[in-house]
Amino acid sequence: MDNRPSDPKKEDYAIFLKEITKTFPNGTVANFGITLGILKGEVHAILGENGAGKTTLLRMISGILKPDSGEIFIDGKSAKMRDPMDASRLGIGMVHQHFTLIPEFTVRENVALVLAESGWLDLKKVDAKIVEVSEKMGIEIDPEAKIENLPVGKRQLVEILRLLCRDVKILLLDEPTSVLTPIEVDSFFRIIRDLKSSGKTIVLVTHKMKEALKISDRVTVLRGGRVIRTVPTTEADEALLASLVVEGLAAPPVVKRGTPGDPILSIDSIIVKDDRGRTAVDGLSLVVRAGEIVGIAGVAGNGQKELVEAISGLRRVESGIITLSSQDITNKSTRFIIEKGLSYIPEDRMHRGVVLTMGIHDNLALKCIERPPMSKNWVIDRRSMINYAERLISDFSIKASDPCMSVENLSGGNIQKLIIARELSNGGTFLIAEQPTAGLDIKASEVVHQRLIDLRSRGAGILLVSSDLDEIIKLSDRICVMFGGKIVGEFFPENLDLERLSRAMLGAE
Ligand SMILES: Nc1ncnc2c1ncn2[C@@H]1O[C@H](COP(=O)(O)OP(=O)(O)OP(=O)(O)O)[C@@H](O)[C@H]1O
Ligand SMILES: [Mg+2]
Repeated sequence: MDNRPSDPKKEDYAIFLKEITKTFPNGTVANFGITLGILKGEVHAILGENGAGKTTLLRMISGILKPDSGEIFIDGKSAKMRDPMDASRLGIGMVHQHFTLIPEFTVRENVALVLAESGWLDLKKVDAKIVEVSEKMGIEIDPEAKIENLPVGKRQLVEILRLLCRDVKILLLDEPTSVLTPIEVDSFFRIIRDLKSSGKTIVLVTHKMKEALKISDRVTVLRGGRVIRTVPTTEADEALLASLVVEGLAAPPVVKRGTPGDPILSIDSIIVKDDRGRTAVDGLSLVVRAGEIVGIAGVAGNGQKELVEAISGLRRVESGIITLSSQDITNKSTRFIIEKGLSYIPEDRMHRGVVLTMGIHDNLALKCIERPPMSKNWVIDRRSMINYAERLISDFSIKASDPCMSVENLSGGNIQKLIIARELSNGGTFLIAEQPTAGLDIKASEVVHQRLIDLRSRGAGILLVSSDLDEIIKLSDRICVMFGGKIVGEFFPENLDLERLSRAMLGAE
């Protein structure tokens, strides 16, 4: 059935894409013949597997990329956007999949930067705007906080806040919820509903079917750069969407619990400060055993970031002791801790996980470049590096045109797969997995979950820090809730009292 919309000039459309095709210089066809109408005042969800072409499509609507062929209509008029400023003048704003905030700047400075484009320079006015918008959003934001000191969930909210400080009619949101906890997602959805009732049009890219079903009016699924189907949300359910996103998706196997052995990681009463000198981890003790996955649940900003940084040697421990495989790693260098068996999938993956301008093969070999077979007698064996990259690309289904391509040209989810492939293949005995599946499609998430379970079965200990409660409950042998720098509750996934867990996350237990 051809249910494709046909009249781009019809007034009902905020955006109309007509036969849009985009090929990158390396030959990747990211979008092919996309025809899609986004109605005024609707929330339109876009789903599709990693590398399906979602980000590319939004970047064309926001004037960052130009289509090779096809036409974009905004409010019924053909819009030939030369750059993002043109899109901005048409009332289009985008929240990007990867952060665009300047980490060394404060919230205020970051907001001031975009407002300056529209002629605002008065910092008092900027502050007033931040207060106005954050109140509307129902979030607490300190305008003086430096972006790099904020947990990723908070940074995401600042990205959204910054967009709302401008006067936009069409909001393009590329995976805005992938690092938010359920509580934060709820308040984010309230904002979306408010925006919708004030007449804004919202395009929302997400991998979470539940979210698409909850918030959108219609859903479009992309696969291999093409539109597979657009359905009204009332006619969709999770099973239908999953089957449209991934062809032939099998039901995931039931996860068995682990059989924990001896402690691998032991944390004894540590105190860790945040960048502003306040106590972020407050006398916390925790043990992770061999063959055990311990999930840390909590709202972002309760010390999870500082805890992980303390374990991985990135932040000073004021007092207390951390041991890994019975060796004291307190305040040791990251290199030392990695040698003792640490693997780490960081949440801030663009910053800490990869070197964007380097090739896939370089990034995959980053942590084993000094050892055979990657190098012998200080001479790098390029062939070995490429072979290794080819193997991991295939094992982890990384969508790449060749093993040496620059990482910055991979889609967001495929960069995440690369980091996971590297960290799960380096033989570590203890893994910190922060938001391991944020940004991954259902199929890739399933693969990663399976790999984490395999790693546990081989006797590694895993500390899983995730804002995705479903993920924590599915994988953890034990769940610790962090609030105010302390573990305030311990739960087991069997007979889980979800009410109590949620209350603990809010510090109300
Ligand atoms: N600048 C570029 N140069 C070459 N190829 C690119 C470039 N940008 C994107 N691609 C490729 O285009 C395809 C679509 O990428 P895109 O980022 O649009 O996917 P996506 O649907 O957003 O995926 P994800 O869910 O992983 O974010 C991918 O194969 C990607 O590698
Ligand atoms: Mg993307």
